[in-house]
Amino acid sequence: MYTVAVLISGSGSNLQALFDAQDAGGLGGAEVSLVISDRGDAYGLQRALSRGVAAAHVPLPAAPSGSARHAARAAWEQRLARVVAAFTPDLVVLAGFMRILSPDFLQHFSNRVINLHPALLPADGGDTVVTSSGLIIPALRGAHVVTDAMRLGMPVTGCTIHRVTPRVDDGPILASAEIPVLPDDDDASLHERIKAHERRMIVQVVRDLAT
Ligand code: GRF
Repeated sequence: MYTVAVLISGSGSNLQALFDAQDAGGLGGAEVSLVISDRGDAYGLQRALSRGVAAAHVPLPAAPSGSARHAARAAWEQRLARVVAAFTPDLVVLAGFMRILSPDFLQHFSNRVINLHPALLPADGGDTVVTSSGLIIPALRGAHVVTDAMRLGMPVTGCTIHRVTPRVDDGPILASAEIPVLPDDDDASLHERIKAHERRMIVQVVRDLAT
């Protein structure tokens, strides 16, 4: 059995796509055995619990700035790593997990952490992406890339699944898709179209890794 831990912060529609594929026999023998969120109100936790899949809320405690904050964050990551490690997953999927994980955390799960990013990323770690039509667009990184694509008036954006390395929103690319920005798009409609692609892509990538 190829076991998968999924880390989320929100709705978990990509998580649901993995559950649905698993039920339909389309996940190559992979099984989501653990769902973790840093937010207790993340709906994805309910999706897991309603199926009897282990679900854990590992909150990042609020801490004042400076060294206390640094220590609280490091302690939180250690807790997170312990919970994930207890399930010995073959793969850790960051599916809308809105926290940056440190090199220490990543070291625990060397080369086994992948991330879903709702924009195109370049394979060379640079600041621009060349689309299939030869257009050069900025590589959008961070937590607001759908809004950024709209704000910058980009004609095309996309989504990427990549292995996670210590550099944020970087690392070997496993899959990506270009998605046009339509004239009447707003942030929500564009993000929903991106997520529809992401849901297909994450299923395919997990299946490929598992088989
Ligand atoms: C996805 O767009 C993912 O790329 C981003 O957060 C979103 C998560 O969506 N990091 P959902 O919670 O799976 O619906």
